[in-house]
Amino acid sequence: MPAVDDSRVCVVGGGYVGLVTAAALAESGHEVRVVEADAGRRAALRQGRSPIHEPGLDELLARLVRAGSLSVTDDVAEAMRGAGMAIIAVGTPPLPDGHADLSQVCAALCAISAVAGKDTVVVVKSSVPPGTTRELPRLAGLRAGAPPLVVCPEFLREGNALEDVRNPARIVVGGDDRAACARVLALFAHLPGHRVATDPTSAEMIKYGANSFLALKISFINEIAHLCELAGADVQAVADGVGSDPRIGRAFLNAGLGFGGSCFPKDVRALEETAGYHGHSFWLLKAAADVNALQRRRFVARVQELLGGRLAGRRVAVLGVAFKPGTDDMRQAVSIDIVRHLQDLGARVSATDPVALDNAARLMPGVRLVADAYECVRGADAVLLVTEWPEYAALDWERVAASLRRRVVVDGRNLLDGAAMLELGFTYAGVGRPVMRPKPARTLRGSGRGRLELVDGAGGGAPVSRPGSARPGPRRDAARSA
Ligand code: UDX
Repeated sequence: MPAVDDSRVCVVGGGYVGLVTAAALAESGHEVRVVEADAGRRAALRQGRSPIHEPGLDELLARLVRAGSLSVTDDVAEAMRGAGMAIIAVGTPPLPDGHADLSQVCAALCAISAVAGKDTVVVVKSSVPPGTTRELPRLAGLRAGAPPLVVCPEFLREGNALEDVRNPARIVVGGDDRAACARVLALFAHLPGHRVATDPTSAEMIKYGANSFLALKISFINEIAHLCELAGADVQAVADGVGSDPRIGRAFLNAGLGFGGSCFPKDVRALEETAGYHGHSFWLLKAAADVNALQRRRFVARVQELLGGRLAGRRVAVLGVAFKPGTDDMRQAVSIDIVRHLQDLGARVSATDPVALDNAARLMPGVRLVADAYECVRGADAVLLVTEWPEYAALDWERVAASLRRRVVVDGRNLLDGAAMLELGFTYAGVGRPVMRPKPARTLRGSGRGRLELVDGAGGGAPVSRPGSARPGPRRDAARSA
């Protein structure tokens, strides 16, 4: 068996986690070879271009590829030559039944094991449900003598990935082979952050526990937001007040349209499935997923309500389709559901996004996708803010107002300044906040008894929630009837 060197790292999978991990390791002096199966991605990478939109990644990859510290191939054997570390960073997409699809992880492990040196350590960075890694050699059909496996989950956020990988809050390493764990800790020794060394199943549980807890937090604040709408409170103030308790924390208490992306929806579902496998019903996770789905329907119901109860024939403009700002990733983006729902109710939808339109095209049939936000909103009956790109807060809203058919803004991320919108004559509705409406014009109307009297204008639609306007007791949930 050839001698191996821990400064040589093979990364299998050139997706988000793989590329960012590879770049960070190469940047810190390692010689990194990325194995990527997709020819288009390989070609882009060889030219030092990132196949995904991630701030700063293009520049970093270009520099590393030029310097020769990061290279790309489709051949695991070539990438493994002399490598002490093999990192598995392939996808684990959800199967129709909610289980994580482990086929790419198993294939990567087989390919690595076939060419691994005597002392090679295999690092599992792909998110795999708790209990998986100990079973992996068997699942992959490997006999005894397979390289030691160490779980080292990744916590990077898209749009913020380089910052997260350079300044992690913690590095978690879980394995049954202590020496292998120590070598993985040494690989990341240059990074700051808390260290957690544990067994593989606990390391896997940390990843799923963290993502599920954050998802729970989001669904919790969205439930509070709904209650705020019913009771006449403002969820922004509530989140600030609740979140200022250090035991709770303000992060991930932003009410809005709920969570999307490649991790939270998948991981919540996979952990619930894992619980089910062990005969445990994890009700909190089921509730988090249900609330997340309901949140999208509530939003569309609110749009409908603000447009006088009817969406058929209305023109609706959607600002932002990526699952969050800073990325072109459309995986599990809330915009997909919202647009489909609007179309089902007869609305004509146009949408815009600074970077995700190419990826959105095949996911949004029948939607007019336009790069220019002003063009997107022209003639619309309502503008819906779906992804909180800062560009949309910076729009010339006076210009937007002048080009609309109706001045209605429904802000799904509480990004915009409601008072400023009101001044421009908009009806402004955020999530979990009272609707703000311009004062209706007072007009003279015949009383029927030969006199004229002043009456409030119609204001364009159904009743809206105002502080203190809600009666105590249950109310019909508009979302369920939409
Ligand atoms: C997440 C985890 O944060 C990261 O640690 C893990 O490794 C991968 O999954 P990411 O999916 O990139 O990262 O995005 P994140 O910023 O966590 O947001 C996830 C979703 O939650 C987005 O759809 C976002 O819009 C939503 N969200 C987030 C809220 O609705 N409210 C919040 O307060 C925070």
